[in-house]
Amino acid sequence: GGTDKMEDALKAALEKDGVIADSLAFAEQHVFDHAALIGVCKSLSSAQNIATENLSRTVVQLSEEGLQCAQHGSPEVRVFALVPAGDGILETELMVAAGAAGKVGMAKAVQNKWLEVLKEDAPADAAPAAEGAKKPPAIKRVKRAVPSVTDSVQAQLKVVVDARGAESALPAEELALLKKRNLLAVVTLKSVKVTPGPTFETWGQKALADLTHEMLVKGTWRGAVFKPLNLDAAGKPPTGGALHPILKVKTLFREIFLQLGFEEMQTNKYVESSFWNFDALYQPQQHPARDMQDTFFVSTPSETLKIPPDYLARVKATHENGGAQLGEEFNSNSTGWQYDWSEEVTRQNLLRTHTTAVSSRTLYKLAQHFRKTGVPVTPQKYFSIDRVFRNEALDATHLAEFHQVEGFVIGENLSLGHLMGTIADFYKRLGPEFAEMKFKPTYNPYTEPSMEFCCWHPTLNKWVEVGNSGVFRPEMLKPMGFPDGLSVIAWGLALERPTMIKYKFKDIRALFGHRIDLNMTRAHPIVRWT
Ligand code: PHE
Repeated sequence: GGTDKMEDALKAALEKDGVIADSLAFAEQHVFDHAALIGVCKSLSSAQNIATENLSRTVVQLSEEGLQCAQHGSPEVRVFALVPAGDGILETELMVAAGAAGKVGMAKAVQNKWLEVLKEDAPADAAPAAEGAKKPPAIKRVKRAVPSVTDSVQAQLKVVVDARGAESALPAEELALLKKRNLLAVVTLKSVKVTPGPTFETWGQKALADLTHEMLVKGTWRGAVFKPLNLDAAGKPPTGGALHPILKVKTLFREIFLQLGFEEMQTNKYVESSFWNFDALYQPQQHPARDMQDTFFVSTPSETLKIPPDYLARVKATHENGGAQLGEEFNSNSTGWQYDWSEEVTRQNLLRTHTTAVSSRTLYKLAQHFRKTGVPVTPQKYFSIDRVFRNEALDATHLAEFHQVEGFVIGENLSLGHLMGTIADFYKRLGPEFAEMKFKPTYNPYTEPSMEFCCWHPTLNKWVEVGNSGVFRPEMLKPMGFPDGLSVIAWGLALERPTMIKYKFKDIRALFGHRIDLNMTRAHPIVRWT
């Protein structure tokens, strides 16, 4: 169609001359619609077949009146021509004959002193004026004042047309006069200069989308034209890189802890001894939580051999009677649990039932450091996030393998107030979903007092327990070797519960474990939150 014709003409001109100086002149020469030609140039230049440079210039164009003038002469000349030499003509008759050109033509011709207007008395047959009435208007006669005239206005307009509107074609005063008479107007013309582009040589060849092995081997890629990369195209959804919701919340928890100045504890021991998981926490050996019904015991290897012997002896004494015989340094001033503590039971291996086992190991290390150096334990904050295992019946809110978020702060005279404040602050940073919190007293063998806390689950429409906390008892801290006056506030939070709240899961089994839908993870956006 027209587009092909324009392309062919552009290509031919560029091959011949190497440049098209101005698309406007080119369009005129080939009788192309200039706007359509610009459209063709745009698509060719985006394929880099041609390069274009924008041009803009101002020209003068004849107005409707100017065109009339150029064709039929200026109004003043046309009016002059209607006035017979000699006696001239009555003005009224002249005006009728001149039509639209009359008023301006007459004014200009008089101004140029080409015509003169003479007043005559009213003809004798006119009705006599009534007494007191105005005198009737004088009759006007128009006569030539010069024998002939030349039409310089028409000549100037023709010069402008011949010069394609170039303003330089006329002296400035003449141009100004023509503009003033609205015979000319200044307009801005936009066009382009066209030169061959980087892919000029391969213009018209079909552009290829892919580079093939065959093209590489045969070397045919050399002459091939490739489609430019479209970086704005919508991409394929990525098949990898999506993060599991648990991982996102884990990352968020970790970031909050780190912002609050907490240090991360080492959590790599899924298999733990009963000693660090229970006994070091002053949990009596007959406690129901240590039952096979609640805990997964490990059969190979079934027992832990390395436990610091002096600490083990202190834990035994504290469980049995509070450890008065251990002396001032380790005495917890308690009656203990009053039973015969078994070393065999404490060496039993298990899958850790809580990450408080991680805290007991960390606290023991801190106490040993304190005892060796004598340097008082400055306030310190620790956290961990990792897996724990419980022999549980599975349901919508319970899994046998899940994650715990553990934390403690050690310092002088820390109270329940510090504990509740720290936990509330933590949840506030987690997001508006956790703004509503409730604390209630509970029991742990290793903390006194102890507090459970709940968050409001917006879709389940009920309070969900999300964590447990407390102030560690002296029966736990003294055998480790911490001095009096030092306290540790601690808590353990579920990771799955807040994740369920955040991502609106109703069943924990859809979130984590062997029954999850892999597409659930893939469908989550590759961001940590939202
Ligand atoms: N270990 C407790 C649990 O598993 C949580 C906890 C940690 C409570 C630290 C008090 C102090 O629920």
